[in-house]
Amino acid sequence: MKKRKMNIGLNDKGILRRTLLTISVFFLSLNTFASEPLYKDSSMPVESRIEDLMGRMTLEEKIFQLNQYTLGWNNNENNLGEEVKEIPAEIGSLIYFEEDPELRNLMQKKAMEESRLGIPILFGYDVIHGFRTIYPISLAQACSWNPALVKEACAVAAQESRMSGVDWTFSPMIDVARDPRWGRVSEGYGEDPYLNSVFGVASVEGYQGNNLSDTLSIAACLKHFVGYGASEAGRDYVYTEISPQTLWDTYLPPYEAGINAGAATVMSAFNDISGVPASANPYTLNDILKQKWNFDGFVVSDWAAINQLKEQGYTADNKEGTMRAINAGLDMDMMNHAYDRNLQALLEEGLVTQDVIDEAVRRILRVKFRLGLFENPYTSEVKDRFLRKSSLETASNLAAESMVLLKNDSTKVLPLKNFKKIAVIGPMAKTQKELLGSWNAHGNPEDVISFWEGINKEFGSTHEIRYAEGCDFDSDISNGLSDAMKLADWADIVIMCLGEKNNWSGENASRADIHLPAIQESLAQTISASGKPMVLILTNGRPLALDRIEPFFNAIVEAWQPGVAGGESLAGILSGRINPSGKLAMTFPLTTGQIPIYYNRRKSGRHHQGFYKDISSEPLYPFGHGLSYTDFEYSDIKISSSEIKKSDKVTATVSVKNIGEIPGYETVMWFVSDPFSTITRPVKELKHFEKVNINPGETREFSFEIDPLKDLGFVDNEGNKFVEPGDYYITVNDKRIKLTLTE
Ligand code: NOJ
Repeated sequence: MKKRKMNIGLNDKGILRRTLLTISVFFLSLNTFASEPLYKDSSMPVESRIEDLMGRMTLEEKIFQLNQYTLGWNNNENNLGEEVKEIPAEIGSLIYFEEDPELRNLMQKKAMEESRLGIPILFGYDVIHGFRTIYPISLAQACSWNPALVKEACAVAAQESRMSGVDWTFSPMIDVARDPRWGRVSEGYGEDPYLNSVFGVASVEGYQGNNLSDTLSIAACLKHFVGYGASEAGRDYVYTEISPQTLWDTYLPPYEAGINAGAATVMSAFNDISGVPASANPYTLNDILKQKWNFDGFVVSDWAAINQLKEQGYTADNKEGTMRAINAGLDMDMMNHAYDRNLQALLEEGLVTQDVIDEAVRRILRVKFRLGLFENPYTSEVKDRFLRKSSLETASNLAAESMVLLKNDSTKVLPLKNFKKIAVIGPMAKTQKELLGSWNAHGNPEDVISFWEGINKEFGSTHEIRYAEGCDFDSDISNGLSDAMKLADWADIVIMCLGEKNNWSGENASRADIHLPAIQESLAQTISASGKPMVLILTNGRPLALDRIEPFFNAIVEAWQPGVAGGESLAGILSGRINPSGKLAMTFPLTTGQIPIYYNRRKSGRHHQGFYKDISSEPLYPFGHGLSYTDFEYSDIKISSSEIKKSDKVTATVSVKNIGEIPGYETVMWFVSDPFSTITRPVKELKHFEKVNINPGETREFSFEIDPLKDLGFVDNEGNKFVEPGDYYITVNDKRIKLTLTE
C-alpha cells in the first residue's frame, strides 16, 4: 500500500471543536448521577450527547455506523450489489426503497430495541424531483429562474418523504454540466456555477426547512462532490480532467454555497479528478470541505464507489480502498461492504487510526441527533400525504414556469387563436410515463396529466381535437404515417409532440448524438409537407440538437420532463392562459459537434477567427434564451457611482417596461465581465437575477447591489478570493455600463 500525506492542521475549526469538547465534558459531569444516559436526553446539547454516546460504543458498534445497506425492493438497475440477508440492528443507514413506513418502522424497532445502545437508523433515498408528487426534472426547474418555487417543491418532497419513512434525500445534484451528451445533465441546474449555487441553496432550504428535527423536514445531500459534470465526452462514470483553477472557479462554488446554507450531508463522486478519485481525495474531502469550509456533517460514498477505486486503478483491493477513502474523509460507505469488512484490520495494522474512525462516527451521529431520530425514531403513517391539492398546485406552477418558448416566428401561431381543428401528432402526445423523467422515486404514471389530456381539457369544449401517433418513439414509421398525414390535411394546425424516453437521460444514459431519433425527425419532415402551421412540443431530459427539424416549425415549446402536472401547464401555454416565462439554464447547441458549448467560456485571442468551416459556431438557442407572449423594453443601466474603492459597494439599476398587451414575467439577468486580469476569466459571468411579473404598460425597476469581492472578484487555483483594480462591465440584456474599481 502506498503512504499518503495527511494534512490536518489546527485552524478555527480545531479551536471550535476544543471549545465544544470542554462544554461537553461539563455537561457529561452534570449527568453522572442521572438514570437515563445523557445521549438520550434531548435537553442536552448535541455535542455533549455525541461525546456521551461515543464513550459507550464498542469498535464494532462504531464501524457499523459507518455503513449503509439497503432495505426493500430495489428497482434501480444501476444500483447493483450484494444482497444483505440479515441486516444488523447496529447498522448506520439504509437506502429505503419502499413507499410506506411500515418496513422502516419494523427495522427501526429492531435497531431501537435489539441493539445495545438503541441508536436509530438513518433512512435515505433518491428523492430527486419529488417523492410521489413528481415535479419537473432539475434542469427544467433551473429554467424557471424561480428559486422560491423550487424551494416550495422541495418542501413538498420533504413532507411526502418524511411521512413515508425517508429522513434523508440524495439531492440536490449541483454538478455544473456543459456536455448535453451526459445523461445526468437532467439532474442538475445547468451550465452555470451561480445558477447551480442558487438552486442548490433553494433545495437545501426546501428539504431541510427551518429545523431538521421537524417531522416535515429531511436532510439534504449535495452531490456529487466534485467535478462529476466534467465527464469526458459525456460518458458516465469516467475520468475527468479538471485543472485546480477550473475546480475552484467552476465546480466548487455551488458546493460552498450549499455548505453555507447548512446542507447536512455530501455525497462523493464516481469520477477520477485528474488522477485522484473523488471518493478518496483528501484534498477535496478533508482539506477543502471539512477544513476550509468547516463542514461538520458527513460524507457518504456513491454506490460502490470505494470498491470501484480498484477498477479505477487507484487501489490494489477493497482493503486499500477502505484505507484511502476513510483517511481522505469519506465517512459512510454506501453498499460497498468495504468499511464493515476491512476497518478493524486496518486499525490493528495501524493504517487507519481510532481518531479517524471516531471522527467519521461523530459526524454521522451528529446528523441523526439533528434530525431528532433519537426522540422520534418511527414514522407515523399519514394517509393523505401524497398529491395534496396544494402540492399539485406547486407542481403545476413549477411545470409552467420551467417550460421555455424557444421559437414563435412572425406568424405568431402561439398562443393558439384562430384555429378550430387541432391535430395532435407524435409518440409523446399520450405518454404519461415519459413525462415523469428519470429518478422519479415513487412517481406513478397514472398520476400524470399527459399532453393529450391537458390539451383536451383546455380546448375540448371550443375546438375539435384529433390524434395520430405518426410513429413510434424510435422504431418503424410506416404504421402510423398515412393516418398522421390525413389528420394534418384535415387540421388547421398541427401540434407535434416529440422527445426522449425518460430512461434516455439520468444516470448511465449518455448519448453520442443529441438529435431526436431519426424516425421522429422524419415524421416532422413528412408532416411539414402538409403546409399547415406546426407547433413542436418537446419532452426530453437534455438540450437537443434541433438543426434538422427547427425550420419545419412555426413555434417550439420545450416542455422538458415536466412531472405530474405537465399536460395541464403545457395546455395553458398553448392557449395563452399562461404566458411562458422559462429561460434556458443550458445552451442548446446547433448540433452535437459544437459540444462543449456554453456561454461563460474563456475568451479567445482571435474572436474574429477560429470558427467552424462547415457549420455556424453559434448555438441554436443560447443560455438565458426564452420568449414571452409580451415584449419588454429595457432602459439604460444606471449606477450609483461609476468609480468605487474595493471596499465600497455600488448599486446598478435598470428599468424594464412591459410594452405588450398582457402581463408577463421577466427575468432580469446581471452579468459581469472583466476585460483583462491576472487570471483569465470568462467572457461574462452571471452574478445576480430577479424574476418579476410586469403588467402591460407598467415599468419595474430592478437592481443589483455590487459587492466588489463577491461580484467582481475571482478565485485562484488554491481557492483564495481576490479582486483587482481596473475596469469592469456590467451587462443586462443588450445594455452595458462600465464600473472602475480603485485600490
Ligand atoms: C448512484 C448515483 O450516482 C447517485 O446519484 C445515487 O444517489 C446513488 N446511486 C444511490 O441511488
